[in-house]
Amino acid sequence: MPPPNDLPVPGTDEQSVSAALTERLRDEIEASGGAIDFARFMERALYEPGLGYYSGGRRKFGAAGDFVTAPEMGSLFADCLARPCAQILQATNGDILEAGAGSGVLAADLLLALEKLGTLPANYFILELSAELRARQRETLGRKAPHLVARVRWLDALPAKGFRGVALGNELLDAMPVERFRMTAWGLKQLQVGWTNNRFADGNEARAAGQGWPVCGFVWHERTADRTVQERMGPICLPEGYISEIGFQAEAWVHSIADMLEQGVLLLIDYGFPRAEFYHAQRRAGTLMCHYRQRAHDDPLILVGLQDITAHVDFSAIAHAGQEAGLDLLGYTSQAAFLLDNGLEEIIAASDPNDVRAHLALTSQIKKLTLPHEMGELFKVIALARGIGAPLAGFRQQDRRARL
Ligand SMILES: C[S@@+](CC[C@H](N)C(=O)[O-])C[C@H]1O[C@@H](n2cnc3c(N)ncnc32)[C@H](O)[C@@H]1O
Repeated sequence: MPPPNDLPVPGTDEQSVSAALTERLRDEIEASGGAIDFARFMERALYEPGLGYYSGGRRKFGAAGDFVTAPEMGSLFADCLARPCAQILQATNGDILEAGAGSGVLAADLLLALEKLGTLPANYFILELSAELRARQRETLGRKAPHLVARVRWLDALPAKGFRGVALGNELLDAMPVERFRMTAWGLKQLQVGWTNNRFADGNEARAAGQGWPVCGFVWHERTADRTVQERMGPICLPEGYISEIGFQAEAWVHSIADMLEQGVLLLIDYGFPRAEFYHAQRRAGTLMCHYRQRAHDDPLILVGLQDITAHVDFSAIAHAGQEAGLDLLGYTSQAAFLLDNGLEEIIAASDPNDVRAHLALTSQIKKLTLPHEMGELFKVIALARGIGAPLAGFRQQDRRARL
């Protein structure tokens, strides 16, 4: 398939980074007999040290990057999130652990909000895979909350045991590698990635070359699906040609959190659905999306290492993984309901309408975070807990656990 017409062509520096990563992936494909599973391809495209999308030096977050997340829009998201965090910190006398902290803006704003509430944790741990992002997080925290930086500690891996407090991830699970499958007349196939020297044999070669795109490139392969994929999709009736994803790595990650959590809550915010909606017959092409310089498209095999690759979250799988690992499902709701239950209206009421600029900025954040056609409905919040009896702020207005 040719690259979508309207995607910007990367500059020379970017092209050489992508070429180096492409070379490494080709070597692995060759060494594996011609194809690797998609999850492996996605893992290296995003996290290959120094070259992967999240491990490389390009700016990703915010208006100058490839996408804008809720904490990047302003402090409102963190101000609301601070309330359940404060509740858990008080109940556990614990810490916060944020996984995949992006630019570090949520860590800074959340610490500032918790300071105002008088519930600062002794430690704010950040688990970040990318060295470049760690440096950026340090810079953001130093600029926005210099007096609180001493509380922040970077981790290379999750603590093995004994964590008390809040484990937090915003748009984390959607960045974890997924397996892809396709339903065919001959059964379920698992999608793999191979290499071809003539990617545009369908006649689009001239157009691709004219746009500066290489003619050779990665292509889709298929193999019989693993038993784990067959078992997961077995109970769901899928039409022929149906393509989708399974986030096994996200589920394994929830298990690791459960292992380390002695008392507290795992709070995850992301875009996704319960399983019945995720594998809805009409969602025939799955949920995989790529972002490059604020443009969204669906071809993960181009712009390797330069674009974000993401898939929606199957929240039923996340809830099940947590419960299987001994956690309680404390809450599941939409982002809009979660924020409204966490003081959004009070924050609006406290803002000064005469400060027109600040008021307009706040109104714009509220719209983006809560309107159903923006992030309000697609984004969900799930809370999995150990040793927390009381209902958690954020889940009192709308309890959607029964849908999972
Ligand atoms: C889409 S970004 C979201 C960043 C940030 N939370 C935000 O909301 O702006 C995904 C982040 O998750 C990180 N990530 C992915 N898998 C991870 C893992 N297993 N442990 C820790 N961080 C991870 C990536 O490096 C990246 O920083």
